[in-house]
Amino acid sequence: MSDDLIEAAATAALKAYAPYSKYHVGAAIRGPSGVIYAGCNIENAAYPQGWCAEPTAISHMIVAGETRIDEVCVWADSVNICSPCGGCRQKLVEFGRPDTVVISAGPEGERARWTLAQLLPEAFTLEGEE
Ligand code: THU
Repeated sequence: MSDDLIEAAATAALKAYAPYSKYHVGAAIRGPSGVIYAGCNIENAAYPQGWCAEPTAISHMIVAGETRIDEVCVWADSVNICSPCGGCRQKLVEFGRPDTVVISAGPEGERARWTLAQLLPEAFTLEGEE
């Protein structure tokens, strides 16, 4: 995991629109091209309409024409380690592999590291259904 992915996630967190939770999150993902796609959480006065940093980053990746995730960093200046929420784990599985590395980072750097298989064992997919 390179520092540039952590840096991109930290920079994205500065753009978080989180006036309700005040919990600013940045996510950065890298696919086979090496390009980094970053995003932040975007909240809404109608609370359930807000969304996490990870889908913002994924949407940037998709618009750029990539569909594979090799590495993920989620960054928050939080007391506890910010791990991807349940819904985000499913969204990441859609484009990652079981061995895709996900790290959580904060101002001091990397805090935790998992694979997608560890974060979401027995993940739902439609592989093999066609
Ligand atoms: N949040 C994320 O952006 N990613 C996660 O994986 C965990 C939670 C955001 C959603 C909400 O804006 C704030 O953190 C507090 O839940």
